[in-house]
Amino acid sequence: PASTARLPQGHVSVGGVSLADIADRFDTPAYVLDEEEIRARCRTYRAAFPQADVVYAAKAFLSRAMVRWIDEEGLGLDVCSAGELELAVTAGFPPERMVLHGNAKTPRDIETALRLGVGRIVVDSPSEIARIAALVGPAGRQKVMVRVVPGISAGGHEKIRTGTDGQKFGLSLTDGSARHAIARVLGQHQLELTGLHCHIGSQITDVKPYLVAVRRMVGLMARVRESHGVTFPELDLGGGHGIAYRPGEPALDLTALARRLDAELSASCAAAGLPAPRLAVEPGRAIAAPAGVALYRVLAVKHTGPTLFVAVDGGMSDNPRPALYGARYAPRLIGRPAVAEPVTATVVGRHCEAGDVLASDVLLPGDVRPGDVLAVPVAGAYQVSMASAYNLVGRPPVVAVHDGTARLLIRRETQEDFRRRDIGA
Ligand code: LLP
Repeated sequence: PASTARLPQGHVSVGGVSLADIADRFDTPAYVLDEEEIRARCRTYRAAFPQADVVYAAKAFLSRAMVRWIDEEGLGLDVCSAGELELAVTAGFPPERMVLHGNAKTPRDIETALRLGVGRIVVDSPSEIARIAALVGPAGRQKVMVRVVPGISAGGHEKIRTGTDGQKFGLSLTDGSARHAIARVLGQHQLELTGLHCHIGSQITDVKPYLVAVRRMVGLMARVRESHGVTFPELDLGGGHGIAYRPGEPALDLTALARRLDAELSASCAAAGLPAPRLAVEPGRAIAAPAGVALYRVLAVKHTGPTLFVAVDGGMSDNPRPALYGARYAPRLIGRPAVAEPVTATVVGRHCEAGDVLASDVLLPGDVRPGDVLAVPVAGAYQVSMASAYNLVGRPPVVAVHDGTARLLIRRETQEDFRRRDIGA
């Protein structure tokens, strides 16, 4: 599939619709999502992993239309709250193809998952085992997996590394808590343990950490068979597949990942005398991010010392990623041809703090001026889903483009929305 990472400057279209027209019609800031690009990415995954379950991580971006596309393309869905779960079910997603995650599942999360019939619940702590079992009831049986921390350091930023001890997710392979939890789950007849899960981190561009994960998970499966006589039919390796946010950046090679995972799994299982489990992968970012573009209008341009600041009408409330992870983007001037030579600029938001920077040290045409539209490519994941109500500017709308037409998926958050929630006057 293509990626908006390569979006040119000037008069450009996505999904057959001019981005400048979208900015005019839906106002800015606005998020644009290319339906065909999402679907193409789903198909690429299914073609690369014909024997595995591909489970889309809803935290990257979720809406009812997205849920339908994911369903129609035959993927599963990873949710991590009753909210995500209910929205997906409301949109018609089959609950048995869903996986519920969470290091701190609320009673409502668990009850909703059981009531709606979620396919798998991923156990993340010893204390939730008995809680889930009690809610299943004496007659029922719920499929669960155990989330293991395999002791692998990988991922684009310290805050999104989840493969080692010392962070909040999962049960440690090295200190024995994973084995202890597995034994406890096996002792609960209301729970059916279908396999192990791990998610080592996010924005990983190298295949090797995944191969190490397979080896360690198969090692644990072999020890479980020795002590309990049980073999698991499933192994979920989580997501974290890295993508290019700017032209020239590396991305995880999916075909290589699929091929080498298969080879590693066969070899490790053969060596341990285990039947190879069915694999699952849980990509979020790699499906949604490249299909999205954020549109902003320039409000102010000024020099402060040596730096040219270009201030736009959005910022950290719709994209907290630069502030949280030092994420880098390559904004483009769109809707008119650039006249002047490029200059180095820093694109900042409208929020009341100095850390509200969207992109520092980027090249923009020297004639950039108020009223111009900037497009930030690769904006489809972890931006709308992580947007906040900071400064009550209102979360932006999401517009889907497809075959030359644009339609609103999520409307802009308004003053009326804020006023309605604020009931204490
Ligand atoms: N599965 C599990 C259990 C996860 O926790 C995650 C992401 C995924 C799958 C999907 O990972 P992906 O393929 O999207 O990398 N807000 C951060 C990313 C946090 C990811 C959290 N878990 C960001 O904007 O970079």
